[in-house]
Amino acid sequence: MKVICTEKSQILATNLAKVLKTTVTEVKYSRFPDGEQYLITRELDDETIIVGSVVDNDALVQLLLIIDACDSSKNRLVLPYMGYARQDKRFRQGEPVSARAIAQALSRGVSEIITVNIHEKEILRYFGVPARNITLAYDIGSYIKTLNLDNPLILAPDEGALAFAEHVASTGRWDFDHLEKNRLSGVEVRMAPKQLCAASRSVVIVDDIISTGGTIATASGMLYQQGAKDVFAVCVHGVLTGGAYVRLMASGIRDVVCSDTIERGCSKISAASQIARVIKKSDPEKNKKE
Ligand code: R5P
Repeated sequence: MKVICTEKSQILATNLAKVLKTTVTEVKYSRFPDGEQYLITRELDDETIIVGSVVDNDALVQLLLIIDACDSSKNRLVLPYMGYARQDKRFRQGEPVSARAIAQALSRGVSEIITVNIHEKEILRYFGVPARNITLAYDIGSYIKTLNLDNPLILAPDEGALAFAEHVASTGRWDFDHLEKNRLSGVEVRMAPKQLCAASRSVVIVDDIISTGGTIATASGMLYQQGAKDVFAVCVHGVLTGGAYVRLMASGIRDVVCSDTIERGCSKISAASQIARVIKKSDPEKNKKE
């Protein structure tokens, strides 16, 4: 079994290959004069783990080209971050269900798909092949332990992320809660933990995605006003668009950390071991022997 990856998922793929005790296949990339992408790999295997996050349109095209180049029905696709997943419904007439369009395109040419903290589990049914989702809640919990915080409060930025915050908190038996927005007047909004008090506590805001960082930056300012000692932000997918990292650090957040599903300077958590665990479990050869 070999691993192959797109350019933007090289570090995760290399870490994954190490855990799987295999190597990453080399790919040569170039472009046609009109800008279209071209790639070639010379080390084809009949069972390859393809790793590629859809972080932008180029990464999506590269992933489709790699799937086609590898050309074996035994190949499995690891989709650490699935861009376009937030448009998972037709909210208004005439819109696409983008998550479905991307899921269907990526299902052609692979036997199974593994996603990581996919935005909405319902998206899994859009893939044309069996798809499973793993969570990095445990790994985020392990990272938080390295911060040696005294009795931290794990906070979800909204009620929708509460189950994730609960899962993270369970790894260290920490308190957890979610932020609630209360409109004080026409212009004034207050964000505070729904049940618990942030005063004198270290708070870790956890979420699946940090995109613009807008919600967390506002929350951090308010948590400090409520007396929080430190505020940290930890997410799975660091989309960090439009200067989000700078905005978050300027809001007083002590550190912003994400995993390597999107490779960033602040990717301090690796998805490699969780992905490897699922791959080993679903290895058809290994399962035959057992
Ligand atoms: C929303 O559904 C996601 O889970 C994140 O909470 C959201 O994408 C974060 O967005 P932003 O960083 O732009 O506030």
